[in-house]
Amino acid sequence: MSIPSALDPQPSATSPASLTPNAKITKKILVLGATSGIAEATCRIWAAQGAQLFLVARNAEKLAAVAADLKLRGAAYVGTAVADLDDTGKHAELLAHAVNSLTGMDIAYLAYGILGDQARGEQDFEHAAQILHSNFVAPVSLLTWLANFCVQRRSGVLAVLSSVAGERGRKSNYLYGSSKAGLTAFLAGLRNRIDREGVTVLTIKPGPVNTAMTAHMNIKKADVNKVAAAIVKAIDAKKDNLYVPGIFQPIMFIIRNIPERIFKKLNL
Ligand SMILES: NC(=O)c1ccc[n+]([C@@H]2O[C@H](COP(=O)([O-])OP(=O)(O)OC[C@H]3O[C@@H](n4cnc5c(N)ncnc54)[C@H](OP(=O)(O)O)[C@@H]3O)[C@@H](O)[C@H]2O)c1
Repeated sequence: MSIPSALDPQPSATSPASLTPNAKITKKILVLGATSGIAEATCRIWAAQGAQLFLVARNAEKLAAVAADLKLRGAAYVGTAVADLDDTGKHAELLAHAVNSLTGMDIAYLAYGILGDQARGEQDFEHAAQILHSNFVAPVSLLTWLANFCVQRRSGVLAVLSSVAGERGRKSNYLYGSSKAGLTAFLAGLRNRIDREGVTVLTIKPGPVNTAMTAHMNIKKADVNKVAAAIVKAIDAKKDNLYVPGIFQPIMFIIRNIPERIFKKLNL
């Protein structure tokens, strides 16, 4: 498994500290995986609300384009750092830099992930391990730091993109699905630990959404802007879980309850 070590904090020229005393108090949001299609659409809504954003992504060029767009759309502050989020050894330094740049943090939005190649992972353990690392192990590292930061301040929302794929293993994507199942279970336990400390943990479970991740799939996909709007609403309402689109809540209830003797014969 290759875990590059790029970490290149690049705070923008306008720091929150330099905002005028009369500036509106706006949300301070850390976005991990800011070039993801779902994250970008969510950040466009937050930018229009005048939020203060700190964006982390691994592709410097894409990140600069997203940051410039969000400034134009009205974000009160946009800080950036280029980092490979698989590199758990750099997480503490990266997160400390991000919350210092924002001078606090109201929301952490964990939006990065990989679909991986199921067929390849069935033959190649290194690839299977990469999927588990990017979607489960590395997020656990980020969330451990972020949870402890929020508990100390007795406030904050941790909003994390898991997936409906984590609800039941299927032959077409059980490597991705099991990585998200692990993440969903971790988030449930974390919520059970820190909700009582004033920290909200939101598990976001999208069905297929129209982004780069699903571009190759010939299936019905949800509009990314509608998904983003539902995510912003769920964060504001301090919800615990969000199925988006909502129809996936009853669909997954049915899928979870199909008896194994039938399920194992289905081509899903
Ligand atoms: N789209 C869906 O149907 C769907 C459904 C359920 C859940 N989700 C979840 O939603 C999240 C966002 O997905 P999306 O649909 O927005 O897909 P996307 O547009 O493909 O975004 C994935 C993002 O993750 C980034 N990333 C991957 N590995 C990284 C790493 N090691 N360090 C830093 N960034 C990394 C990618 O960066 P690069 O651009 O540099 O590769 C990309 O920006 C993912 O967790 C995904 O599993 C998506």
